[in-house]
Amino acid sequence: MSSKFYVTTPIYYVNDVPHIGHAYTTLAADILARYNRLKGKEVFFLTGTDEHGQKVEKAAREKSRNPKEHADLLVMNFKNLWAKLNIRHDAFIRTTDREHIMTVQSLLQRLYEKGEIEKRLYSGWYCIPDERFWTEKDLINGNCPECKRPVEHIAEENYFFLMSKYEERLIQYISGHPGYILPEQRKNEVLGFLRSHTLGDLCISRPKERLAWGITLPFDDTYVTYVWFDALLNYYSATKYLAPKYSPPTPFSPSGEEGKGGGGNWWPPEHHLIGKDILTTHAIYWSAMLMALEMDLPRNIFAHGWWTVEGRKMSKSFGNMVDPNVMVDTYGIDTFRYFLFREVPFGLDGDFSEQALVKRINTDLANDLGNLLSRTLAMIEKYFEGVIPPCSFLVNNPPTPPFTKGGQGGLMIREIQLKNFVETVNPDFDVLMERLSFSHALDKIWTVINDANKLIEDEAPWNLWKTKNIDKLSGVLYTLAEALRIIAIYLFPFMPSAAQEIWNQLGLDGDLSKVNLDNEGRWGMLKPGNKIQKGKALFPRIETEKKN
Ligand code: MSP
Repeated sequence: MSSKFYVTTPIYYVNDVPHIGHAYTTLAADILARYNRLKGKEVFFLTGTDEHGQKVEKAAREKSRNPKEHADLLVMNFKNLWAKLNIRHDAFIRTTDREHIMTVQSLLQRLYEKGEIEKRLYSGWYCIPDERFWTEKDLINGNCPECKRPVEHIAEENYFFLMSKYEERLIQYISGHPGYILPEQRKNEVLGFLRSHTLGDLCISRPKERLAWGITLPFDDTYVTYVWFDALLNYYSATKYLAPKYSPPTPFSPSGEEGKGGGGNWWPPEHHLIGKDILTTHAIYWSAMLMALEMDLPRNIFAHGWWTVEGRKMSKSFGNMVDPNVMVDTYGIDTFRYFLFREVPFGLDGDFSEQALVKRINTDLANDLGNLLSRTLAMIEKYFEGVIPPCSFLVNNPPTPPFTKGGQGGLMIREIQLKNFVETVNPDFDVLMERLSFSHALDKIWTVINDANKLIEDEAPWNLWKTKNIDKLSGVLYTLAEALRIIAIYLFPFMPSAAQEIWNQLGLDGDLSKVNLDNEGRWGMLKPGNKIQKGKALFPRIETEKKN
């Protein structure tokens, strides 16, 4: 198993106002990064902004700014939101970074010299807003097949990446590596597309007289690079100058210095997380580019689904864009993070509504988890003066089958279940996290929470107190506190602050981000004798009448 873990998000158009879709991918990457850090891996989590192209140039001109100044202002919308959402990326790439530009030029030069790029007269249809060429066949009623807006007829010389020759290799690679494109349905779509279409070559230049805001082609300074070609290369260029082990950028050299590995050997990434709408550019363009560069392909490209809002497509014209800033200000960071990943299996489309969010907060968080913590700590305070009691019960009463509720010798069946569960949850949970099955991983944590709540109901600690069964009472409360400690560790990637709060209230020291799952995720690491620090309710209930 590799001890390095490199995960990326798309780089977002700097012009966009960040919405729930941007937050979703970046949070997913944050969850994976945090989880892999818990497992003791060296992590490189990269996000950033896509800053070249026509849209930025046009918007800057409208504000009488130069495009870089414009991008410098807008990039803060993303950086501030990531800080607000408690996202801990290791690096933030901007395609206007000097080092990125140099890497793109160096790789273009290499492709040019290898004969992978050719100049041709192009005559066809161009969609200005999408910055894409289309063939006559592609058009729908004479309009762009993607954005449905009118296209322009253009005849000009341009440079083409000879992508068509990779068609067969792409089919072979994608079908031969079942984990390369996920979910499986998306992989099948890509294969279906490749098998039913003839793959064309990719126009990778724009003449400067039409678009000046881009990376100049190293072999012809009258052209800039097509924005997607520039953007996709971010995943590699970042490893050269932003990855944890800094390695200075290689100055542009016509012979090409880029090797297979990146700075600190971060290449290839474990996961490229993207939305389903940008799968073609990643699965086809990017894979073919890497093949042409003779570089390793990423281990996985995962295309998640789209959020609709109360059943409708989210769009500026409907005025229903979900601003994560507002959600966090209204409901809190961790509750928003939890909702996005519990409500919908990662990979499927989902529907966002505040009502559904409030329901999750009140049931899963306030009722199940919040109450488990407050009841457990209240009982430890009441019966053991706030000190975690010892757990000698099982030692004194070794379990003998059949296991029944309150069974032989007052055996606590749920304690055994919980302990077994936690001991076996790790491998299960790990498989789910490796498959990016976040909602199922959360289901697992909630099984522990529910079992712990049932332990309280079954054993009724207040009766054990009344009947002076202190040995068993202390066993029950130790079990609950230990289950909560372990829940906090597993929950940390999803809900970092709430998990830390549980940790602190249990009287545990230190920062959960420094914990190692293999060492501290084992049952029995909680030390009896610790003084708890009961604090405020973790998740106050939200009055539904107000919100409905
Ligand atoms: N700049 C390109 C990506 C280049 S990566 C080399 C881009 N930028 S973007 O700002 O448009 O990114 C949008 C991302 O947000 C995409 O992954 C897209 O799938 C995602 N989403 C946009 N709307 C969304 C929803 N309604 N729901 C979920 N994700 C959505 O594309």
